[in-house]
Amino acid sequence: MAKMQEPRHHRSFSITRLIRYGWVALSLLLVACHVDMYDQPRYEPYEYSAFFADGRSSRPPIPNTVAVGQFQDDPHFLTGMIDDQFATTLPFPLTADVMERGRQQYNAFCMSCHGLVGDGDGLIAQRGPLVVTSFHSERLRNVEVGYIFDVITNGLGRMYSHAARIPPEDRWAITAYVRALQLSQDATLDDLSPEERERLVGTESEEQ
Ligand code: HEC
Repeated sequence: MAKMQEPRHHRSFSITRLIRYGWVALSLLLVACHVDMYDQPRYEPYEYSAFFADGRSSRPPIPNTVAVGQFQDDPHFLTGMIDDQFATTLPFPLTADVMERGRQQYNAFCMSCHGLVGDGDGLIAQRGPLVVTSFHSERLRNVEVGYIFDVITNGLGRMYSHAARIPPEDRWAITAYVRALQLSQDATLDDLSPEERERLVGTESEEQ
């Protein structure tokens, strides 16, 4: 007896279950059909639009747009020029942090062509026909810092402009670092303080 009742018991259990949980599946189904929130009347990035003549839904920014909080009108800082002359000073104080930033940014943006210390022997220069200028010439050692900033900003000959790639603060930091590289390859003992000279001479005699 008990054995014969078993399937019936099983079936009634399934029906109860279906009634109890069926509404969950049904409401999920209905929610899924409702896509108003998902498919809103707006353009996705880069989506085509028949509304504008150029077919683009995104509008290009108005020329000379300045982002909020980015307005800067100091010509020294932006162009490296003061009264149409190349500036001979940085537009902000030189600190160890600025120099370190300059080293990082130089290694990221300039080293591939100009080489680790600015000899003009970076990997790109070694592999291709591009002749890259060394920073260690009498002429470039004597140019104003504003000139170096200008070359980074506007490019020169076959060197492209970095204005869109590197913000002005970092272009100045790189400029300072280029100066440091120039000094590193052209320093004499007289450029050192007595203590530094002492240390250097001390190291030399230790090595011997
Ligand atoms: C794609 C390779 C390339 C990159 C990257 C590059 N340069 Fe140059 N650079 C050149 C070439 C080539 C010249 C020579 C241009 C000429 O005289 O026609 C040059 C010239 C220069 C000069 C000398 C200008 C003069 O009066 O002779 C300076 C200074 C300079 N680059 C600095 C930089 C700095 C700083 C960076 C990084 C922000 C940089 N360059 C990135 C290829 C490059």
